[in-house]
Amino acid sequence: MGTAKLIYDGKEYELPTVVGSEDEVGVDISKLRALTGGAITLDSGYGNTGSCQSSITFINGEKGILRYRGYPIEQIAKSGTFTEVCYLLIYGSLPTRQQLDEFNESLTYHSMLHEDMKKLFEGYPPTAHPMAILSSMVTSLATYYPHSHREDRIDLNIVRLLAKATTIASLSYKKSIGQPFIYPRNDLSYTENFLHMMFAVPAEPYVVNPVVERALNLLLILHADHEQNCSTSTVRMVGSSQANLYASIAAGISALWGPLHGGANQKVMEMLKMIHEDGDNYRKYVDMAKDKSSGFRLMGFGHRVYKNFDPRAKILKQAADDVLEDLGVDDPLLEIARNLEQVALEDEFFIQRKLYPNVDFYSGIIYSAMGIPTNMFTVMFALGRLPGWISQWKEMREDPKSRINRPRQIYTGPTESTYTPIDER
Ligand code: CMC
Repeated sequence: MGTAKLIYDGKEYELPTVVGSEDEVGVDISKLRALTGGAITLDSGYGNTGSCQSSITFINGEKGILRYRGYPIEQIAKSGTFTEVCYLLIYGSLPTRQQLDEFNESLTYHSMLHEDMKKLFEGYPPTAHPMAILSSMVTSLATYYPHSHREDRIDLNIVRLLAKATTIASLSYKKSIGQPFIYPRNDLSYTENFLHMMFAVPAEPYVVNPVVERALNLLLILHADHEQNCSTSTVRMVGSSQANLYASIAAGISALWGPLHGGANQKVMEMLKMIHEDGDNYRKYVDMAKDKSSGFRLMGFGHRVYKNFDPRAKILKQAADDVLEDLGVDDPLLEIARNLEQVALEDEFFIQRKLYPNVDFYSGIIYSAMGIPTNMFTVMFALGRLPGWISQWKEMREDPKSRINRPRQIYTGPTESTYTPIDER
């Protein structure tokens, strides 16, 4: 174990360093406050703060590397299925055929919702954003499964959550378009079942298009985990108080909703449509993004960690071409996205700041081609991110060193003041 030296107020302190399996170095400051008599670190936005040690996902943002449990995203995306990735992330190793069959079977078995939950959907206005419904329904699952925190029920509740989330998501869509709710079917795979619940109607048979199903698998896999991002840190933060699985994940869903995080995929689509309606004048929007006073950012561009291509965006750019061609969809927004990317990547503003397309840049175009409406895009991201949130929550729970998360602050408000009664103010 190495050490780092800190000189503060004329005194020298030695702080231990921690080295990860990919040689990343962290200075362990857990004793800093005690040693220095009160000094803390200040790191707004946590860009330099490691909140935990984790063996789930590795990212090297400078080199554009993403690996789940050591496996490169490119390999998993090419050959894996989403439920296999769920197993890998949550249980730490790739499943055998038998383990995967059993896991898939239990996901199928638990996909129905308690009938009473349907009544909850009825209370929402038809315009309700499906992210609000998803988050509140996931919290509500804790009312149907109140013993979810019990050690012997953890695996069962993990499966319940993964299984029921697709049912909740598709019901929120059916609610928004006024169609009857479609029940899950046990003869379909996880991804087929979701598409069936989204797009089938009782009046006629629905056959899942294999191109759409493969695209869905790919999209979910690419979103499955991304180490300590905003929503995952939220899940860990809430979970650190020993809140139950459903409450912790529901908090993560809310964090994901914001336009700087998962909500960006909806915003990308809205931006591309706006550019299209404005005569495809993408250069104007690149210029606007460079002008800070415009308040406009290129949505789907930039990332806190990637200072090189986001490897997920590379895969999705190719997938957008392939899926649209296979489905015979000619979307003018794809051309705008390509042009926007090209212009931005050659522009000094974006080059200097190392701004590249991120995972959200092309995903919406593929979701649209699959028939998924824009306001469901962030829900799709949430469905994909579920195994990541769950595995991070589980890892935190199983770590004997876990403590409630409780950051400190540097107070900048008024110093002690004397209270004046209201009539004397
Ligand atoms: N368009 C124009 N300028 C940008 C953009 C953008 N999309 N992103 C960052 N910049 C500029 C920013 O103005 C700043 O410039 P300067 O150094 O001159 O002040 C510089 O690049 C660094 O930006 P930052 O806001 O300090 O970077 P951050 O690490 O705090 O934010 C981000 C990362 C993803 C929130 C940001 O790049 C952004 O707002 N992107 C658009 C929203 C988006 O696509 N979000 C999805 C992220 S990927 C999915 C996920 O995992 O959430």
